[in-house]
Amino acid sequence: MTLEFRPLAGRFVGEASPIDLRQVHDAATLSRIRAGMDEFGVLVFRDQPFTDQEQLDFAQRFDGTLHARTSAAVLAKNRFGNEALTDISNVNDQGEIMAGDDRRRMAGVSNRLWHTDASFQDPAGRYSLLSARVLPPVRADTEFADMRAAYDALDDETRASLEGLQVHHSIVHSRQVLGFEFSDEEQARLPGAVHPLVRVIPGSGRRSLYLASHAARIIDWPLPEGRLLLRDLMEHATQREFTYRHEWQPRDLVIWDNRATMHRARPFDDKAYRRELRRTTTLDLPLPATA
Ligand SMILES: [Fe+2]
Repeated sequence: MTLEFRPLAGRFVGEASPIDLRQVHDAATLSRIRAGMDEFGVLVFRDQPFTDQEQLDFAQRFDGTLHARTSAAVLAKNRFGNEALTDISNVNDQGEIMAGDDRRRMAGVSNRLWHTDASFQDPAGRYSLLSARVLPPVRADTEFADMRAAYDALDDETRASLEGLQVHHSIVHSRQVLGFEFSDEEQARLPGAVHPLVRVIPGSGRRSLYLASHAARIIDWPLPEGRLLLRDLMEHATQREFTYRHEWQPRDLVIWDNRATMHRARPFDDKAYRRELRRTTTLDLPLPATA
């Protein structure tokens, strides 16, 4: 049976027809999923009962090399012993719900700011695959924003003014915005990365705004002026018409294209309820130069 995608909301989220991704090894189906990613930007696969290893294996089959530096790993070692398997949870090394003042929780709550994964690294993240393992009995949604539609909605003059601009992304910046401070030694290990503000997605040829809470300054611009432009663009790109709110079901696997979307976690009572998801993110190798 052919894999198909049904639009869930607007034009950038598709729900896959029933499929067991653990069994997908053939090039035709994998390339059908990649084409779906180019068409939509976010794909939802229901009922994917991945083990950790199965998720790692599938992510590699899907897009090659996995990213092992997508979080502020200077804070703590990954509890699974594999930095490519990112722990998106409110659980500590002992498997207990983190205390309210746990330093990792304080760093992690910044994921409630709109961002795109590992933009503070070079290479950044390309696809992220997030698997729902343990869900709380209350809503704990993830929101997505379509950065190609946001780009398309800009007027011609604004679009022209953005061409060629470069942005410094820093996880130190995105955490400091909420009052979280890294030590000098930690900051030295997190220098950030520079990426174009407007990116072209190779598969679709569409242009996309590449923004995130990590976006700290525009290269060669005065700091306040650059930050104001970044804020304006964030405000524009996260208007309701460009966003989708995902209500998680057990065993959902959601894949998004970090080059074409932003996302953020929505708050829930994370000191009362356990929530465990696992993320694998692939490495976004440099794009070929565009004309
Ligand atoms: Fe994220």
